[in-house]
Amino acid sequence: MNSTIKIACIAFAALVCTNTVNAKKPEQGLKDAYKGYFSIGVAVNQRNISDPQQTALILKEFNSITSENDMKPGEIHPGRGVWNFEKADKVANFCREHHIKLRGHNLCWHSQFCNWMFTSPDGTPATKEQVYAELKDHIFTVVNRYKDIVYCWDVVNEAMSDSPTGNPFRDSRMYKLCGHDFIDSCFVWAHQADPKALLFYNDYNASQTHKRDHIYDMVKAMKDKGIPIDGIGMQGHYNVVYGTQNMAEQVDSAITMYSKVVKHIQFTEVDIRANEQMGGQLMFSRDAAPITDEIKAKLTQSYANLFQVLRKHKKVVDVVTFWNLSDKDSWLGTRNYPLLFDENLQPKAAYYAVRDFKKLKK
Ligand code: XIL
Repeated sequence: MNSTIKIACIAFAALVCTNTVNAKKPEQGLKDAYKGYFSIGVAVNQRNISDPQQTALILKEFNSITSENDMKPGEIHPGRGVWNFEKADKVANFCREHHIKLRGHNLCWHSQFCNWMFTSPDGTPATKEQVYAELKDHIFTVVNRYKDIVYCWDVVNEAMSDSPTGNPFRDSRMYKLCGHDFIDSCFVWAHQADPKALLFYNDYNASQTHKRDHIYDMVKAMKDKGIPIDGIGMQGHYNVVYGTQNMAEQVDSAITMYSKVVKHIQFTEVDIRANEQMGGQLMFSRDAAPITDEIKAKLTQSYANLFQVLRKHKKVVDVVTFWNLSDKDSWLGTRNYPLLFDENLQPKAAYYAVRDFKKLKK
């Protein structure tokens, strides 16, 4: 290369470099900040995926999606032989179009379930065999339909009791008829339908000591029997009223314990209720009193503490999913202030506490 060409090349390279440095870097989203840690997910409804502003926010911030309601058994399979795939297909197609992985939620739950399964076609109570035939057909049909895009399933949701004493299993209709064998069976069918999907048991209060121990015992027993279960879904519906540090500590020890029995832990439905008026209970009202700045600061601290623990366990935590996009959509009501985006889709202080953790003082 002669010297004139060399100088021209160097000058061009310098120009490209300067322009690159001067160009304003686009602001990173949560999913970018957590690259190297875990995926960041969001539960969506139909409005979220059809409104351009909300869609843009989803694409900027998240790299895993859960359908909030549209894939639940009762929604997708409301009657014997009646299938209602339209809304679930829209969520799946949104994910296919934007190359976002989809968490399947869920295949068997006591709520929003196919209650028709418990009555046989002649109107008499269904037998265990009849329920199993329908449930197996349900699981095979749904898992097969979405196996190209769904990477994991909440196979069984909330099958444990909340009581610290007595039977560890929830006394659901399914349990009453089939015993806890229905849990094993659902996992076996889901695995047969898609051997590649990661299969989860999912529950709330999964870091509360007694429930944690019951979940651990159940999953350990399943593993020992060779049931194809890959992970535990910790829903993660928390509350500032319970104290911020305590919550993070409980989560920390639950992850440590669960990781002895599974390789995958997913936080599947994170939100933190902040309205004191509700005293720690679920409150769905949109008319509750506004919350104070002090409580908002507590919310920020709770999120910061929680994510610090989650980052510590990045080897076993695959994904952390928020249960709804913004406070406007939250199933807990807007005034519960539970998410990182407010009712106008604006990021809160809690958002920055979660995203910009590298800037935080140790
Ligand atoms: C909730 C939805 O967010 C609501 O819209 C619906 O009315 C009830 O269910 N645990 C779960 C989720 O596993 O499926 C629930 O979602 C919240 C609690």
